[in-house]
Amino acid sequence: MSFAHIGILCSGGDAPGMNCAIRAVVRTAIYNGIKVTGIKRGYAGLLRGEFQPMNLSSVGNIIQRGGTILQTSRCAEWQKKEFRAKAVDIMKHQGIEALIIIGGDGSFNGAKALWDEHRFPVVGIPGTIDNDISGTEYTIGFDTAVQTGIEAVDRIRDTAHSHARTFLVEVMGRNSSAIALKVGVCTGAENILLSHEKVNHQKLSDDIQRGMARGKDSSIIIVAEGPTAGRSYDIQHVLKDLFHLEAHVAILGHIQRGGSPSANDRFVASQMGNMAVQTLIDGHFPTVTVVRAGKVLMAPLSECITKSDHNFVEYQKLAETLSI
Ligand code: F6P
Repeated sequence: MSFAHIGILCSGGDAPGMNCAIRAVVRTAIYNGIKVTGIKRGYAGLLRGEFQPMNLSSVGNIIQRGGTILQTSRCAEWQKKEFRAKAVDIMKHQGIEALIIIGGDGSFNGAKALWDEHRFPVVGIPGTIDNDISGTEYTIGFDTAVQTGIEAVDRIRDTAHSHARTFLVEVMGRNSSAIALKVGVCTGAENILLSHEKVNHQKLSDDIQRGMARGKDSSIIIVAEGPTAGRSYDIQHVLKDLFHLEAHVAILGHIQRGGSPSANDRFVASQMGNMAVQTLIDGHFPTVTVVRAGKVLMAPLSECITKSDHNFVEYQKLAETLSI
């Protein structure tokens, strides 16, 4: 299958490594004689016709930069069929014959609608710090976000120890606990509170007090953020009101979304960007580039449109055993 002109956009929350994927898409396309148009600010920018022609130097010196040079958005209008039809008209008018979407499961659902309703060729590249897309073991940005979380917790541990304090450190991930689990294991956290589990305050208090009884003077509790950020404050109040335990709250928030991508994110994003273009050339769509058994492959888009929580039980057990 030959395409003369493709579009690329980022959608949803940004993630470190998105720029590496954009670079790989643009360079692979140009290598194969395909023109590339960058679409600014995701589906919202597409609807407003925010286009940027991409050449070799538009993606120079971006491999190390966090965020996305194309910028991104969460687009409410995309839920409506008439706006998706409008987007297809806009792309056709621009000469764009296929679209590569870097984003999460919501963005992939938006891409699926383009294919289902208009047979518009789409390929997805998973980019979200949450690592919560079905059908792939890995999403671009997760490794960097975990590393940022680890560095933050290490710093908090210094001061927690000095002052003999308990800290509730809330990490991003919305309904996925992937970041919380990995940061928790890698920082030796005393407890990890998962997003889908009801907090057992009694157990939490018992754990903190057991630690104190054996001479620990500080505790780090990693809290997965859940549907809305800030639930650590509720836990803090319960610990104080019911158990007379003082805990400090640190919410890492968007600090985890920025920063220079790790080696792993750069490498996976480069492979995925390259494969996304190759996949279009080979005529395999609608598809998503995925990691399975550690290898970058492509999979049908329909396998990657829901949320998933990887390694849940396995990591949880590890964390519990090591924090005894
Ligand atoms: O999906 C990525 C993510 O960073 C989640 O971890 C977080 O809950 C959410 O985005 C925050 O979204 P926003 O930047 O739109 O507030």
